[in-house]
Amino acid sequence: MALFTRTLPRVYHLSHRNIASLAALPETHQMLQKTCRDFADAELKPHAAKHDREHLYPKEQIKKMGELGLMAIAAPEEYGGTGLDYLAYSIALEEISRGCASAGVIMSVNNSLYIGPILQWGTKEQKEKWIKPFTNGQKVGCFALSEPGNGSDAGAASTTAKLEGNHFIINGTKQWITSAFESEAGVVFATTDKALKHKGISAIIIPKPVEGLELGKKEDKLGIRASSTCALMFDNCKVPKENILGELGFGFKIAMICLDAGRIGIASQALGIAQASLEVAVDYASKRLSFGKPLIKLQTIQNKLAEMALRLESARLLTWRAAWLKDNHKPYTKEAAMAKLAASEAATFLSHQCIQILGGMGYVSDMPAERHYRDARITEIYEGTSEIQRLVIAGNLIKEFGL
Ligand code: CAA
Repeated sequence: MALFTRTLPRVYHLSHRNIASLAALPETHQMLQKTCRDFADAELKPHAAKHDREHLYPKEQIKKMGELGLMAIAAPEEYGGTGLDYLAYSIALEEISRGCASAGVIMSVNNSLYIGPILQWGTKEQKEKWIKPFTNGQKVGCFALSEPGNGSDAGAASTTAKLEGNHFIINGTKQWITSAFESEAGVVFATTDKALKHKGISAIIIPKPVEGLELGKKEDKLGIRASSTCALMFDNCKVPKENILGELGFGFKIAMICLDAGRIGIASQALGIAQASLEVAVDYASKRLSFGKPLIKLQTIQNKLAEMALRLESARLLTWRAAWLKDNHKPYTKEAAMAKLAASEAATFLSHQCIQILGGMGYVSDMPAERHYRDARITEIYEGTSEIQRLVIAGNLIKEFGL
């Protein structure tokens, strides 16, 4: 059982709550928030700059996050998870990302995109084998959907999985895969029947390492540099046919449904980056003198801080709303897209304004502002670009109007 749950009252589910009461979090969630905040201050913040600079995977930190129950928050205890809800996940992920956005994305992918689909569509045997060892931070999983030739157009996957006897033979390349380097298994999307387009895509659990699978080079990225990103190259990679997740041809739906949940995770990561930027800006503005007084007394700076707080808190409410809808088994595709769009744009805005307030000090790596600025940028790209979020929002809106 995760360390965190041993110390808490078991008031996990929010079915009796409505969205207005989210302004005051339940006791469990407040305790989780404090635990994660303290952990981020003590264990993540002090190492984040070095890990970023040297592209170091935060191995020890991820292990400790596993011990706290953060690597499988919504999975039931029977599979080694923490048995909390998505609101808890969002809150924890924000706090972790406030300390280190790379640790945030590793946590997000393991929870939403690796464990998430196996939990929802896996057989009992698959859950035992592919979830349990991935809950304690010792092992992490990845999710391989994008390819060199298709990112936003996820249905155009050209990696193939051919059924031969009792095995799938996988060929093709998956690109931009978070945690590809360290992960010891992945949910991989490949087409089992190209003629059926997106309806021919299947989701298959691939162990790593495995014969016929090679890793591309570790990408040298603008931000989230402590997490690895690389390509998975399959060359006649043989995987048992019982590794299919759900039915043959159901993979695109699995990807879309998991990305809805994943977008709550990335929204939360973005909130953490935005919150960290606000804290750096307020701290600096309260200490630095200009025109004979602290910056924070200047109306120009106050205007900036007000706008930063407004965008951050609006995005947080959208994110908590999406999580609450998911926890209450209500549709949340549009709301998750709104949350991700608002939170990622808030992270970009707040980290930009933070540098503006710090001036020259914001532009050098002695301060964390420039790292937050670099880390924020990816939140508008992965798990669906801001442009894709707008398409998803508009598509759902049009449906709501019955058009
Ligand atoms: N839930 C359930 N089903 C869904 C769905 C959802 N949210 N969205 C679409 N579908 C279903 C549709 O109902 C439709 O079903 P039928 O075939 O039965 O009618 C089917 O999927 C196809 O739907 P669309 O015609 O709308 O699909 P599309 O090809 O036009 O694509 C898209 C829609 C929203 C653009 C989608 O391709 C998309 O989300 N693209 C972005 C991909 C993305 O986010 N990639 C991220 C990679 S992972 C990553 O980034 C992880 C990381 O590193 C951190």
